[in-house]
Amino acid sequence: MTLQDKVETKVGLLIVLSIVVVLWGGLAQIVPLFFQKSTTEPVEGLKPYTALQLSGRDIYIREGCVGCHSQMIRPFRAETERYGHYSVASEFVYDRPFLWGSKRTGPDLHRVGERYSDEWHRAHLINPRDVVPESIMPSYPWLDENQLDGSLIQDKMRALMLVGTPYTEDDVANAPATLENVTELDALIAYLQSLGTKVKVRR
Ligand code: HEC
Repeated sequence: MTLQDKVETKVGLLIVLSIVVVLWGGLAQIVPLFFQKSTTEPVEGLKPYTALQLSGRDIYIREGCVGCHSQMIRPFRAETERYGHYSVASEFVYDRPFLWGSKRTGPDLHRVGERYSDEWHRAHLINPRDVVPESIMPSYPWLDENQLDGSLIQDKMRALMLVGTPYTEDDVANAPATLENVTELDALIAYLQSLGTKVKVRR
């Protein structure tokens, strides 16, 4: 009886060995990532979100934009031709939680920053059909009417500091003032305009 016959005829042994192989494979893929600079250090020029961008990000989460939009450009020609440079891990160092998404009813948004004007986003979010007639994206008119609630911003920034985002005490102290008299729409647009702008090679 060869070794292969033994393994293949004893179900218990086969299961145990399969688990060992899968575990080993998993560890070999995952563990090195914790030590690779390209996945743990921010890409050059990457800054933590400003208080305004961070608040906009929370609106993005609240409104469920991630349900229709991914933020993850894969390294395939069809994607890089359309969206720009593929996403790299070191661009997401300050993203907690990640908003990579897994559903693309609309286009990927990872490199949408600086692609359109603020006015374009404003019109588009209030009523997408005004700028893209065939759009099926929902309208978000209330974002323009709601004043941004900045009351929790310092707590949010402190929480992010605990997990390593390098905000300074000054950043935290000045945050509430930067959120006065702005709408939820302003914050969301500030966030969108920051997306994916650090890796400049577009084509
Ligand atoms: C039901 C799915 C759906 C939801 C939810 C949704 N979108 Fe969209 N979005 C689309 C579709 C479809 C398009 C393409 C048509 C268009 O440009 O309007 C689009 C386009 C966009 C674009 C233009 C992208 C480009 O490269 O041209 C932006 C920016 C955008 N959406 C932002 C948002 C934001 C922010 C939210 C949350 C407030 C959101 N979307 C929610 C479906 C959705």
